[in-house]
Amino acid sequence: MSKTKTVYICSNCGNKAPKWFGKCTSCGEWNTCQEEIESKPGTREARKDSWRGEPRKGHRPVPLPEIQAKGIVRTTVPDEELMRVLGGGIVPGSIVLLGGQPGIGKSTLLLQAAVRTNLRVLYVSGEESEEQIKMRADRVGPSRPDCYIFTETNTEKILKQARELEPDFLVIDSIQTLSSPYLESTPGSVSQVRETAGEMQRFAKETGVPVFLIGHINKEGSIAGPKLLEHIVDTVLQFEGDRHYSYRILRTLKNRFGSTDEMGIYEMQADGLREVSNPSELLLAQKDEDLSGSAVGATMEGMRPMLIEAQGLVSSAVYGNPQRTATGFDLRRMGMLLAVLEKRCHLPFGQNDVFLNIAGGIRVSDPAIDLAVVCALISSLHDIPVPKDYCFAGEVGLSGEIRSVNRVEQRIQEADRLGFTRIFISKYNAKGLNFDKYNIEVMLVSRLEELLDEVFGL
Ligand code: TYD
Ligand code: MG
Repeated sequence: MSKTKTVYICSNCGNKAPKWFGKCTSCGEWNTCQEEIESKPGTREARKDSWRGEPRKGHRPVPLPEIQAKGIVRTTVPDEELMRVLGGGIVPGSIVLLGGQPGIGKSTLLLQAAVRTNLRVLYVSGEESEEQIKMRADRVGPSRPDCYIFTETNTEKILKQARELEPDFLVIDSIQTLSSPYLESTPGSVSQVRETAGEMQRFAKETGVPVFLIGHINKEGSIAGPKLLEHIVDTVLQFEGDRHYSYRILRTLKNRFGSTDEMGIYEMQADGLREVSNPSELLLAQKDEDLSGSAVGATMEGMRPMLIEAQGLVSSAVYGNPQRTATGFDLRRMGMLLAVLEKRCHLPFGQNDVFLNIAGGIRVSDPAIDLAVVCALISSLHDIPVPKDYCFAGEVGLSGEIRSVNRVEQRIQEADRLGFTRIFISKYNAKGLNFDKYNIEVMLVSRLEELLDEVFGL
């Protein structure tokens, strides 16, 4: 009997079916069917009752107190942003997936980490030739003898070399180019990605060598070879940014060894990615005069406060339906804020086109930016500038109330440090805070009407 059979796998959720399908019965996606060859390693029947025999010696469940926790010693490379995002360093035996769109800088990020450290690194590329990697490496730093480049896609050959070389960490660029000699499907297919990632994971766990996998992102923005990979790896990092800006943001989507709130910021330069340790100063648009339609919000990204400028443009809608556009901010949330302004403050946004932009090409999800967004929009509507040394931190509720936000002291401190003279926060944030130690004047507001009065005199 033939040892291989054809199965149909959904490339979105990994569901297997014996027949071709147009719509996946598991996740409901259309056109995700991929044909794959599956080879059977022995029959299932024979293995079914194997637990009945004598238990294996040596490997058994252990009572919790008997397990010796060796405090994990993390290795570090001189890239503070990357280390912070990973939770303080590279954990031995961990497997990290770095996803991002083509050309965003994934290869650059890991190559420069490999080049700029004193550790022994094996950088495996299935995408570029040795000369191409050398050219790129020369841009980011001097060549070290302990940084090894290997252009190969066969997992067995890669792991064999890795075992001999015993690197401090291993980089695979990219998981979609790898192919396992035990599978017949093409590289990048669901079963190859799953199998090769599994091999990498076993290698990492058994040898203790940390592995970084670079993964491409598909059109919908998830890592191709999708959810499967996210389960296999310990940490999922996403590298994102706007092509028109040089800023790149590194986010943690999952981390077994640290917080998922962390974020790293880089700037792409001619000699690689530069860490941006002081984002606020870069993100505030440089301007000398007070212009209408802009307000600064004190947001938190991870554990770091970051001052970001919200820019609004409100103009009368010439063509029928008013337009609403938001860049870097959730469009539905902007719709909600506009509805609140319309209903509670009787501001006529209904007949106007509204455009909102977060400066610097950054995406903000911290609700504390609401107040800055609202001020930018009102400022543009009435053409009254917000004084440029004002700053805001508050969430706007559906009844026009201004709600408290977390870590307000850090936000105030950052605004103070950058020379702002007034910060508007929610009245409910004031409990237990001592504002005397700051130079900045802290204004407490509880409703949008009060804010309108204090800032715009309306
Ligand atoms: P790359 O790391 O190849 O992206 P990915 O691996 O995510 O596809 O980054 C490619 C871009 O970065 C490319 O457009 C050139 C730019 N770049 C610089 O601007 N400066 C540099 O020093 C390097 C190495 C790349
Ligand atoms: Mg690349």
